Amino acid sequence: MAMRSEFAALAEEITERIRRFLPITDDYNSELADAMSYSVMNGGKRIRPMLILLTYRALGGRMVDERTLVDPFMAAIEMIHSYSLVHDDLPAMDNDRFRRGKLTTHAKYGHAMGVLAGDGLLNAAFEAALTAEGDETTKDRIIPALRVLAAKSGAYGMVGGQAVDVAKTGCPMTAYELDFVYRLKTGALLEASMQIGAILAGADDAVVKAMGEVAAKVGFAFQVRDDILDVSGAPEELGKPVGSDEKNNKTTYVTLYGMREAIETAERLSEEALEILARYPGGESGGMLAELISSLANRTA
Ligand code: IPE
Ligand code: IPE
Ligand code: MG
Ligand code: MG
Ligand code: MG
Repeated sequence: MAMRSEFAALAEEITERIRRFLPITDDYNSELADAMSYSVMNGGKRIRPMLILLTYRALGGRMVDERTLVDPFMAAIEMIHSYSLVHDDLPAMDNDRFRRGKLTTHAKYGHAMGVLAGDGLLNAAFEAALTAEGDETTKDRIIPALRVLAAKSGAYGMVGGQAVDVAKTGCPMTAYELDFVYRLKTGALLEASMQIGAILAGADDAVVKAMGEVAAKVGFAFQVRDDILDVSGAPEELGKPVGSDEKNNKTTYVTLYGMREAIETAERLSEEALEILARYPGGESGGMLAELISSLANRTA
């Protein structure tokens, strides 16, 4: 996948750091464990755990706590994201056969195992996050971070957005409905990522809220860009098919506003996100966080 080399390297590092949270078994349930690992251990860009880590570092999170405090949440968010993709690709949803350059989980393991691998990953995410350990300074940050993880993944977050996306498939959608769907199905997990990074770093409530605002803009831009790429991207670079939205008669930002406005909106929202972010301390990781956000607005994968 065509990512800038520093982000590609960080994505690889994150992949190694989250590997230990996946189930391994040689018992009767080994196929489930294989399907779960298959769904996570592939060419994902790792944007969400990257946002946790870079936000944590930018806001002064201590390096010594990363393995025990931050890694469990990085694994959790990537498992929730990956499960959302496994279910999103199912025949009952977008019915797609390729993801991250490989067969989708259900295409490889069968439909039932696709459902179960997703279920298992959602659970494994909380099993991972619950291994987080803190000391006297950091332990009170864990429950608030868990609360954000749970809330932003559920009916008021990602799942809620997916539900409306599915319900509206084939029907025209208003601008308000589309806005709702994007904020929830994609925005919510990005908001969770930056807020969790901020909470674990010990940021106060106002900063956590501001990080949520930054991420909401980044998330909206991210989905607009995803819709653009579904029309004009290269499948071999994306690792997933183009034309999925048209096949499913989806209303997207592109069908509603046209390609030009979609491109402009993704760029504008990402600039607005960077303006808010610039008000906060950041150091070297803050610079990298800003770079990541600006690179997402015109990404090709
Ligand atoms: C794809 O997310 C689904 C959307 C929310 C648009 P990503 O583009 O982050 O997918 P991976 O994790 O890199 O495969
Ligand atoms: C985002 O929408 C999916 C999730 C929130 C899981 P899409 O359906 O457009 O995502 P892709 O294009 O299949 O990755
Ligand atoms: Mg979808
Ligand atoms: Mg899809
Ligand atoms: Mg898409």
